[in-house]
Amino acid sequence: MNINKVSVIGAGAMGNGIAHVFALAGFQVQLVDLNEEALSKGLSTISKNLDRQVAKGSLTEEAKREAISRIGTTTGIAAAAASSDLIVEAATENEDLKKKIFKQLDEAAPAHCILATNTSSISITRLAAVTSRPSKVIGMHFMNPVPVMKLVEIILGYQTDKEVGRTIEELSRQLGKLPYTVKDFPGFIANRILMPMINEAICALHEGVGGVEEIDQIMKLGMAHPMGPLQLADFIGLDVCLSIMHVLHQGFGNPKYFPSPLLQNMVAAGHLGVKSGQGFYVYTPGSKDLKVAPGFQTQQLMPVS
Ligand code: CAA
Repeated sequence: MNINKVSVIGAGAMGNGIAHVFALAGFQVQLVDLNEEALSKGLSTISKNLDRQVAKGSLTEEAKREAISRIGTTTGIAAAAASSDLIVEAATENEDLKKKIFKQLDEAAPAHCILATNTSSISITRLAAVTSRPSKVIGMHFMNPVPVMKLVEIILGYQTDKEVGRTIEELSRQLGKLPYTVKDFPGFIANRILMPMINEAICALHEGVGGVEEIDQIMKLGMAHPMGPLQLADFIGLDVCLSIMHVLHQGFGNPKYFPSPLLQNMVAAGHLGVKSGQGFYVYTPGSKDLKVAPGFQTQQLMPVS
């Protein structure tokens, strides 16, 4: 099927990254959010991220201008949906909110329109069940930062049409991404594997097996990960990590997915990582320095005997 017009619901970190890559690949994009402030912040982030690509010579000023000109912004979700061939929902990771959005989209979008979600762990099948078109509902899971990361994890819900899956795979390639398709089970593949690793790193920190720097450096230097698991948790958002651990724990009923009590405490205290300015590290706007957060500066080692 022909996809030309794309709406992206949510102008936050993931939504603006998704709008960025679609616009750059030549699609007409409508970026939708609740208020003008969120929309202008999203658009300004897209502009800054396109500037990075211009600065390193992988994009011309002209291509940047054209990409920006292909992005419209609106607070009118129904009107945007009505003129879309594909909608990618990237709102806050909350199942009730996403169900409400999917009902609205289903009512307003034309029959041919595919409804995709960028959810990191919520069941595609349950979101599809609130619509009248479950065969056209699919997971299209981008990774942060979207313009940089090559993967799109595609998730087929219980009723997703295989042809819709093939369309989204082909579309992901048009965006310069590499799609890999999996089934709809808790955490899909990416977060079923990533989150227990992050949770285990937090458990090891809590037990005093190693400090923040030791844990992150061991995984960076020893496993060639670009970020250590604690820095990555801060980057993703500790609230998001906790909510995904809850999905795994409830979905499988297996105690191995129980979220670390330290992670639970940090979220309750509002130490959410980069977005709140403090997690395992402290973050100063405009600085790339990584400074371990005050509470974690002294490593409490477990007694050896
Ligand atoms: N937009 C465009 N380009 C960006 C960018 C953005 N938002 N952020 C970074 N870049 C580019 C930079 O311009 C730079 O480009 P060049 O190398 O071509 O010059 C490159 O990315 C590297 O950036 P930096 O030099 O600023 O910083 P870095 O080398 O420390 O890399 C990073 C930053 C790409 C984020 C790297 O640390 C990394 O890959 N980290 C791991 C990211 C990861 O695991 N993401 C997945 C998270 S899980 C998820 O998203 C899904 C979920 O469900 C939880």
